[in-house]
Amino acid sequence: MSDLRSGLFVSFEGGEGTGKSTQIKLLAEALEKQGHSALLSWEPGGTPLGQKIRSLLIEPSEDPMSARCEALLYAAARAEHVDKKIKPALKAGKLVLCDRFIDASRAYQGWARGLGEAPITDISLWATEGILPDRVYVFDLDPNIGLERVKARQGGKLDRIEAAGLEFHSNIRKSYLRQASKDPLRYKVIDASQKLERVSEMLLEDCTQWLKSKIV
Ligand code: TMP
Repeated sequence: MSDLRSGLFVSFEGGEGTGKSTQIKLLAEALEKQGHSALLSWEPGGTPLGQKIRSLLIEPSEDPMSARCEALLYAAARAEHVDKKIKPALKAGKLVLCDRFIDASRAYQGWARGLGEAPITDISLWATEGILPDRVYVFDLDPNIGLERVKARQGGKLDRIEAAGLEFHSNIRKSYLRQASKDPLRYKVIDASQKLERVSEMLLEDCTQWLKSKIV
């Protein structure tokens, strides 16, 4: 998609509790068996500085963070991640599997926080020097179910973003589905309400086909 590079970049998106982090690990293991070794990473985070920014972003705080500060912190973590990890891996010809990327900023900050998808896209593209994923998997799930899963997993506790309310999370789902519908060749929506095994089968099947079309 972007500048001089020979690797492939896949991102995984979705609201809270869709099971995407588990699915990425299962996919990486299955691809490994097929002879593709993948670099797994995540946002916000993926680097030591990114992890510090992640804490600022997700830890609950008495003092509410402004939406623009939040957007810039996600972009800052992404800039560091791309510079230190993603770009070098792509230049070395690796397959990069990343848990969230620019689409998350468009959905959460651009749409759900109301900052606008266009300015958020500009900030993020500036931060990443234009790097975009070649393939995006959107894990789609009713946010009521997703948030219940998160609560069950975390003993009822929610982080700062998870606690933003049902309307916020419903908007995130809408934004992801809209982003995916605009570019159906690059995005693939996965029904995350299905059984874990079924989701991983579908993901592996699609990713294998997609990789075949890319590696000639
Ligand atoms: P995670 O749950 O996938 O680890 O992501 C942490 C939280 O950060 C999650 O609630 C989604 C949110 N997020 C944004 O709001 N904007 C972004 O750009 C990214 C990458 C994540």
